[in-house]
Amino acid sequence: MSCCRRIDNDTANCLSSTLCCAVILFIFSLVIFAIVINSPKELNFTIADASLTRFNFVTANTNTNNTLFYSMALNITIRNPNKKGGLYYDRFQVIANYRKKTFAVVTSAVTPFYQGPKNTTVLHFVLEGQQAVQLEKGDIEWYGSVTSSGIYSIDVSLALQLRNVKFRNTKSHLEPPQIYCDKLKVPLHSNNVTYFKAIECNNVYIFTSRYDHEQSI
Ligand SMILES: *[C@@H]1O[C@H](CO)[C@@H](O)[C@H](O)[C@H]1NC(C)=O
Ligand SMILES: *[C@@H]1O[C@H](CO)[C@@H](O)[C@H](O)[C@H]1NC(C)=O
Ligand SMILES: *[C@@H]1O[C@H](CO)[C@@H](O)[C@H](O)[C@H]1NC(C)=O
Ligand SMILES: *[C@@H]1O[C@H](CO)[C@@H](O)[C@H](O)[C@H]1NC(C)=O
Repeated sequence: MSCCRRIDNDTANCLSSTLCCAVILFIFSLVIFAIVINSPKELNFTIADASLTRFNFVTANTNTNNTLFYSMALNITIRNPNKKGGLYYDRFQVIANYRKKTFAVVTSAVTPFYQGPKNTTVLHFVLEGQQAVQLEKGDIEWYGSVTSSGIYSIDVSLALQLRNVKFRNTKSHLEPPQIYCDKLKVPLHSNNVTYFKAIECNNVYIFTSRYDHEQSI
């Protein structure tokens, strides 16, 4: 209508300019559609399952250090929702923190591996060992207060090194920032608690970081 008003009384002109408007709108929506269709979707990282068979602190009287004996199993699900595009994982590292203190770092033995379009891969990790952890008095009290529940809040982060991250013809970051899977409520098996609520990880910028990067240039 706004197109028509600008052209005085000439019906033919009006018709052609309306048509022109329609065509421009159509092309515009096609472009938007193409951009949406061609945009890569981000990978999906989920801690699907986690359990502890051991998680106890041994406090030495002589110093402030505590030794944490731990054994934690994790199943991490990675989903590539894209119809096109894939990547190689050259290194897959799992870092576990309790009360903001790192107690375990494990690098996957199965890497490098390729993840193609529409693929879901499940990785299994076992973090086991002992680690001197410097805990504050408050942390120890906290640990004591949650022991009876048999559920421990553990933060996990993932450090990846990637290769050939390709979506159609474009490439993305090969060393994305750490991925966070926070506040896992991990049950200790000996307490008969087996329930674990799956947690989706955040801060994932593998297929999408490229755009953020380009925009910031
Ligand atoms: C992980 O997956 C394996 C195989 O499906 C399963 O046996 C195990 O119970 C799962 N959970 C953990 C925490 O390992
Ligand atoms: C306490 O732990 C830290 C870090 O593991 C270590 O450097 C330090 O020597 C330990 N102190 C004692 C008294 O064991
Ligand atoms: C996903 O990729 C992995 C690694 O290449 C492969 O072992 C697995 O079979 C694939 N899964 C599906 C559902 O295609
Ligand atoms: C775990 O369950 C078994 C059998 O259901 C029971 O005998 C045992 O006392 C339970 N242990 C704890 C720590 O609740």
